[in-house]
Amino acid sequence: MITLIKHALSASVEADIEIAGWIRSRRDSKGFSFVEVNDGSCLRNLQVIVDQEVAGYEQVLHATTGSSVRVAGRLIASPAAGQKWELRATQVEIIGQADATYPLQKKGHTVEFLRTVAHLRTRSNLFGAVFRVRSRLAYAVHQFFQERDFVYVQTPIITASDCEGAGELFRVTTLKQGKDKADEPDFFGKATYLTVSGQLEAETFACALSKVYTFGPTFRAENSNTSRHAAEFWMIEPEMAFCDLEGDMTLAEDFVKAMVRHALEHCADELGLFTKFVDKTLMETLTLVAERPFQRVPYAEAISILNASGRNFEYPVTDGQSLQSEHEKFLAEEHFRVPVILFDQPAQAKPFYMRVNEDGKTVAAMDVLVPGIGEIIGGSQREERLSVLQENMRSRGLSEEEYWWYLDLRRFGTVPHAGFGLGFERLLMFLTGVSNIRDVIPFARTPGNAEF
Ligand code: 4AD
Ligand code: MG
Repeated sequence: MITLIKHALSASVEADIEIAGWIRSRRDSKGFSFVEVNDGSCLRNLQVIVDQEVAGYEQVLHATTGSSVRVAGRLIASPAAGQKWELRATQVEIIGQADATYPLQKKGHTVEFLRTVAHLRTRSNLFGAVFRVRSRLAYAVHQFFQERDFVYVQTPIITASDCEGAGELFRVTTLKQGKDKADEPDFFGKATYLTVSGQLEAETFACALSKVYTFGPTFRAENSNTSRHAAEFWMIEPEMAFCDLEGDMTLAEDFVKAMVRHALEHCADELGLFTKFVDKTLMETLTLVAERPFQRVPYAEAISILNASGRNFEYPVTDGQSLQSEHEKFLAEEHFRVPVILFDQPAQAKPFYMRVNEDGKTVAAMDVLVPGIGEIIGGSQREERLSVLQENMRSRGLSEEEYWWYLDLRRFGTVPHAGFGLGFERLLMFLTGVSNIRDVIPFARTPGNAEF
């Protein structure tokens, strides 16, 4: 049986084992060869010593970086500094050679180059680390909500409703191009799209099961080629019945903190690598975020702070409009130096489902802004009053017939409820210090790019 290198490296006694992986480097000496093998189970390599007497030694002398290898041998305490164990091979088999065109040679590559070989980049230290963290955090998300009695709901990927009302939808159709006749029925009998959010469907579940969450792919055809937007990304959307904006903000803060703590506790090697090579301040920032309370700031106050900042922002600060990412970053990174929860935003800048405040002008919305990223979470208390919701829809030109089921929640036993959406990739950018969303997605989908 193959032992994962991660387990070999944390062994407590010498043992006969078999490992398999890809060769990172080889160094030949008189009568033996040192081979660094990595199997992706952890950041570290296992050093294999192949004596000339060992079966397969000749093969090893020709093995190149990137070749796959299987080694049986004795795991022994290593005399070398910086490693506890090494493997003395008794048998080596090169499974597959990699020729000289293998793109991941020893020298460091830029992330831009590695994006062009996304099918191989996961074999590099950086991307191996990013995707182990991604996996671990997906587990942490479920753990967080399951331990708090939230029910996991899988909302549909194909939908007819535009939850955010921003019009950035991918159409789903079986109609042939050019034959899009009005009399020809489409597959679902109505226009359908890839979902931008599972929120509306999650609300129906919250209004039955009290506490629910979604965790799945979402799609937005935003043609903005930024480092923080992807056309396909994963969102986590908790929704709670009998909950107001206050409770929503508290859950958001607890959630982000729990994710940071989980990473600090379970991904220490990876965070060490990111701190060394990606962002020198990462560990410090994460430790701070895990410990300090978030700052809660009403929108009106944020506008005053921004206006008084004396900053020359690229986009002017306009009262009544959404903040730009440079404004968000200023608040979290420079002014407060902790994550900021911005709440009570102007209604005109927000979707129809948010609860209208007493003043009639703002809604019970909240965004969580973190240093380095800006918005990581968007959420709100939902409008539970039927007549107010109908008015919100009318003023935005939304049809009541389309949303009949959503309105029914307000007709039959309506309750105050609230929730939010956290962009999983934005969270991963925050936890790894990686500055481009393309580098925390296995195969990124962005405007003009659907390779792999
Ligand atoms: O603020 P948004 O648009 O909120 C919603 O979709 C609500 N329905 C959520 C809810 O209340 N249940 O999106 C939520 C989060 C953002 O804060 C951001 O982290 C992420 O989703 N996000 C994106 N991430 C990557 N690429 C994109 N194009 C994103 N658009 C939003
Ligand atoms: Mg938002």
